[in-house]
Amino acid sequence: MYPLIRSLLFRLDPETSHDLALRLFALASRLSNTGKPPQATAEPDQSPPVMGIRFPNPIGLAAGLDKQGTARDIFRRLGFGFVEIGTVTPKPQPGNPKPRMFRLKEHQALINRMGFNSVGLEQFRKNLAATSANIITGINIGKNAATPVNEAINDYLACLREVYTPADYIAINISSPNTEGLRQFQDRELLDVLLAGLNQERERLSDKTGNRKPLVIKVAPDLNRLQVNAIAALIRTHSIDGIIATNTTVSRPGIENHPLSIQTGGLSGVPLKQPSTQIIKLLHDNLQDEVPIIGVGGIHNLESALEKFEAGARLIQLYTGLIYQGPTLVKQILDVTGKIHQS
Ligand SMILES: Cc1cc2nc3c(=O)[nH]c(=O)nc-3n(C[C@H](O)[C@H](O)[C@H](O)COP(=O)(O)O)c2cc1C
Repeated sequence: MYPLIRSLLFRLDPETSHDLALRLFALASRLSNTGKPPQATAEPDQSPPVMGIRFPNPIGLAAGLDKQGTARDIFRRLGFGFVEIGTVTPKPQPGNPKPRMFRLKEHQALINRMGFNSVGLEQFRKNLAATSANIITGINIGKNAATPVNEAINDYLACLREVYTPADYIAINISSPNTEGLRQFQDRELLDVLLAGLNQERERLSDKTGNRKPLVIKVAPDLNRLQVNAIAALIRTHSIDGIIATNTTVSRPGIENHPLSIQTGGLSGVPLKQPSTQIIKLLHDNLQDEVPIIGVGGIHNLESALEKFEAGARLIQLYTGLIYQGPTLVKQILDVTGKIHQS
């Protein structure tokens, strides 16, 4: 069924078809709803917790598909164990001018320069409240494009305060390539200040609410070993609970000759698989199993999902693979990865 839907969707421009796909996933999930979402073989409470959370299965939806927090309830029915919504910015902003998403079908890849099109915190919270909290929900936070880097910590703090209660975990996005200056937060000095501030605020919110929520950071694939080690050290120093590896890449591995490869933006999908796995390995060499890694980048079948676990990921996320393969991708990898998750 999905190949047919996809061939219709792919006749539209990528962003329109993307918006439509969100609605079709909702429809498909209702049609195929047997009353129970697909489950890993074990009951949720038999699997070991990750970041203190018992995930029903290790497959999550990556940030950026449900940016405005309007659709999370459909993803449980598609089989996902968790969703990450956002990136949300404090104030509403339109993102970059269109076109800003490009499909490289031959490579099962996308290039996007969305630039955090966001309804802003206030509307985001309303959207979230209108959906059912039937799935573990990470909320991914960022800064407004107009906020200078030296004031950006205030944007992250504002987001953290607003999403703290509805989130099961909070993802600090310091790796999207389409917001000027954002990736500078991966540098040691800036990251140190940012994580110290966010951890302090988290402790305050934790005391106030009696509920300590995990903080995770999301990093780029465009990092070398020294940078990865510096980030890993700061994760330990500031009690960060997890790391998502990786966001999209600004490099163009294996697609250099594609006419769309010159488009500015982050590349996702199959060409990102190796660079992302490499970062997971480097992180795991350093952090071992002390800090859980959420692996994302180019997962498009069972084998590529297993590759992420073998590299050291405890959980995985999908985005571009879901666009190309459809919801059956989740079901395809659920049986096997569900068993890994329990061990
Ligand atoms: C169109 C698009 C929009 C995205 N928006 C976000 C975002 O807002 N925040 C974020 O952290 N990652 C965002 N991502 C990155 C994905 O969450 C993911 O890290 C990346 O696409 C690699 O996974 P994949 O190869 O499975 O797509 C976006 C990706 C795409 C393709």
